[in-house]
Amino acid sequence: MDIEAQKRAAGEAALEFIEDHAVVGVGTGSTVKYFIDALARIKQRIDGAVSSSERSSALLRQHGIQVLDLNAVDPFAVYVDGADECDGRRNLIKGGGGALTREKIIAAVAKKFVCIVDTRKCVDVLGKFPLPVEVVPMARSYVARAIQKRGGQPVWRQGFTTDNGNWILDVHGLAITDPARLEAEWNQITGVVTVGLFAQRPADVVLVGDGRRY
Ligand code: A5P
Repeated sequence: MDIEAQKRAAGEAALEFIEDHAVVGVGTGSTVKYFIDALARIKQRIDGAVSSSERSSALLRQHGIQVLDLNAVDPFAVYVDGADECDGRRNLIKGGGGALTREKIIAAVAKKFVCIVDTRKCVDVLGKFPLPVEVVPMARSYVARAIQKRGGQPVWRQGFTTDNGNWILDVHGLAITDPARLEAEWNQITGVVTVGLFAQRPADVVLVGDGRRY
């Protein structure tokens, strides 16, 4: 099964988690795009969506799905999003598309986080995919030095600004054996907005494009 077919299969499989009159949390990326297409087919059954990026909001609106302000909704049932890497305990690296902060906020509010991936994303140890870290622009060099001291090799994602007006450091050279600890420690570096590790709040279920789920 080719990768695009896997992304579509995973995106469509996530529909089974959407109940009538739900507010749906929607992530960002090429896999989620297939989920949005599928969601459009049942849009009359849902009450709207909260979105993790301007890009996804635009896609949802194009399909006639109402985008709601997260502050205006109660905790909602399901958030569907992709990932850049996923380990066997459903810990994730996210932020390849730069939407990690809003993604982490929506994941925190959702009762269930359904992650949709193709087989390339499934790994034993996180870290081959460079770990995105969103930083306040004036803290970029300070945070980069702090990360170097902790063994990472940060690379500034030049020319990219997040939806929140911040910058991203992509950290290479990691083998993340204790993701929850690294997430907690790096979150404490002054100037860090969000570390793209989802381990303290991992996915609740992972749907892989080849039909596996765990
Ligand atoms: C967006 O910031 C990311 O967290 C995405 O969820 C992740 O990059 C997966 O994107 P693809 O589905 O395009 O691989």
